[in-house]
Amino acid sequence: MTLLVTGATGNIGRKVIAHLLERGQRVRALSRTPSRSALPPVVEVFEGDLTAPATLGPALQGVTAVFLITHDGPRYAPLQTGQALIQLIHEHGVRRVVTLWRGERGTIEAALESSSQLEWTQLEPSDFMSNMLHWAESIRSHHRVQEPYPHSRCALIHEQDVAEVAARVLVEDGHHGRVYRLTGSEALTIPQRVHILKETLGRDIAYVELSDAQARERWRDMGFGPDFIELLATWHDNPLAYTLTNAVEKVLGRPPLRFDTWAQEHVAAFRAPAAL
Ligand SMILES: NC(=O)c1ccc[n+]([C@@H]2O[C@H](COP(=O)([O-])OP(=O)(O)OC[C@H]3O[C@@H](n4cnc5c(N)ncnc54)[C@H](OP(=O)(O)O)[C@@H]3O)[C@@H](O)[C@H]2O)c1
Repeated sequence: MTLLVTGATGNIGRKVIAHLLERGQRVRALSRTPSRSALPPVVEVFEGDLTAPATLGPALQGVTAVFLITHDGPRYAPLQTGQALIQLIHEHGVRRVVTLWRGERGTIEAALESSSQLEWTQLEPSDFMSNMLHWAESIRSHHRVQEPYPHSRCALIHEQDVAEVAARVLVEDGHHGRVYRLTGSEALTIPQRVHILKETLGRDIAYVELSDAQARERWRDMGFGPDFIELLATWHDNPLAYTLTNAVEKVLGRPPLRFDTWAQEHVAAFRAPAAL
């Protein structure tokens, strides 16, 4: 049994690979630039681009299950090639596909749901705890966090939980046709997260509220397109952002990892290097 992991060089994909290797699986990775992939030598890395489905042909030979991201590029554009990708995956004899959404369902999810031959599971995680690493520079240099929407709550999920669920669902039976909304066990506001980081680091961190207009301007400066900015700006009002589910516990048989655990694991990223 060989599994193909797309998004393999990303935050989640690398962890999915680590979990699959721990389980003794044979793993193949997809990357647009294999020479920069820096994956364990035991992983076969194939070149391919999800916006050009035919480029995946070699990577799909002999594969039984695929972990499939649904976005394109660093600005998280929705992939428009879902129909062709799912067709190609099916033609290569793959049995199972596990998708990772980008905050909205897209062409891949639609194509899978209309496929009568493939087994599929869709993972719909809430915001990753690792997003808080975007605060690291500001906390290290200015001891502050600048964000909008202080009262909104988010059911943050530890990225290890997303990856571990993905690895399980790729190799275990019983998940076909399921859409798993993955969340942590607590819905935290931004000031609550700042407080946890403050306690963990043992140092003061100020929370500075940004207006909606300031937040949108910052996202534009980061290169995000209007649709993605709208998704980000309205996400906190979406019940999917803050409603807790028990999907992680159902699949993994243990509670989700908490934000204070994540904070302890990442203290080094938020601490200024000691002066020489
Ligand atoms: N951050 C959140 O809170 C959150 C919440 C829910 C869902 N998500 C979604 O989770 C997904 C994964 O996030 P992540 O943090 O793991 O991503 P990431 O660290 O930014 O990694 C992106 C990965 O996608 C691959 N990739 C991008 N465009 C590609 C293309 N056209 N063809 C092939 N590979 C492509 C890259 O591979 P190469 O560069 O090696 O080709 C890389 O491995 C994203 O879709 C994101 O929207 C994120």
